[in-house]
Amino acid sequence: MLVVESVSKRYGSGTKAKEVLRAINLTVGEGEIVGLVGESGSGKSTLTRVIMQLEAPDDGTILFNGSLVTRQSRKAFYKGCQLIFQNASAALNPLWTVREILMEPLRNKEGDRDAHIRRMLGKVKLTEAHLHRRPSELSGGERQRVNLLRSILVEPKLLVCDEIISSLDRLIQKEIIDLLIELNRETGMALLFIAHDLQAVAYMCDRLYVMNNGEIVDESVKVEGRFDFTHPYSVRLFGAEFRRG
Ligand SMILES: Nc1ncnc2c1ncn2[C@@H]1O[C@H](COP(=O)(O)OP(=O)(O)OP(=O)(O)O)[C@@H](O)[C@H]1O
Ligand SMILES: [Mg+2]
Repeated sequence: MLVVESVSKRYGSGTKAKEVLRAINLTVGEGEIVGLVGESGSGKSTLTRVIMQLEAPDDGTILFNGSLVTRQSRKAFYKGCQLIFQNASAALNPLWTVREILMEPLRNKEGDRDAHIRRMLGKVKLTEAHLHRRPSELSGGERQRVNLLRSILVEPKLLVCDEIISSLDRLIQKEIIDLLIELNRETGMALLFIAHDLQAVAYMCDRLYVMNNGEIVDESVKVEGRFDFTHPYSVRLFGAEFRRG
């Protein structure tokens, strides 16, 4: 469904140029949960921005549903592919109620938007009482669930999650991860889950990429709850075999 082919990205020019992405190849199949892990500064968010068309790559191509993303209208692309960021507080307008926040992505939708929101609330374990509150009147976990709901209201085929649980405590991390797994099972929405916390990623993902210094250095499919890494970097980072927690 998502195919990233030989994507490269440089920042700056001449002798100061920095190659942040080097010939990245990555795929996400329909309904698949794919993880991308790597240390801070390895280029994960840059790759996210390039996939989401917030920045153009210097080289390479990105296909979504079989055609080049640059040939698709933004509107069509974002209907199929949504992004969710780390910082839920910063992503939510503090002056708006939850209802207003959730209405916004539906502005082009026909039909009863309130009914659609009410239908979807339960998917992220929120209730109608939350609709009248502002972000400051929500817990961190509730804020991230509002943020998540906002991204899935258009019912995308793929949700790209860039470090969405890093700032949450363990219990709420688990809650969000279990929600994502449930959504994946129920709706078939695929996930590209980006994080540096291997524990969480290993628990939820079917397949995992390891990124180091702008390159994908390793890839492993989970077999019987276990990943096998071969590249020295990922072995050093995670151990040769990583069992799910
Ligand atoms: N707009 C920019 N201009 C110049 N350099 C940039 C720009 N954006 C990112 N970089 C550099 O690109 C590299 C990769 O950054 P990126 O944010 O993609 O890393 P990351 O893997 O997401 O890190 P983290 O885990 O901390 O979020 C870093 O060295 C960063 O300083
Ligand atoms: Mg990042």
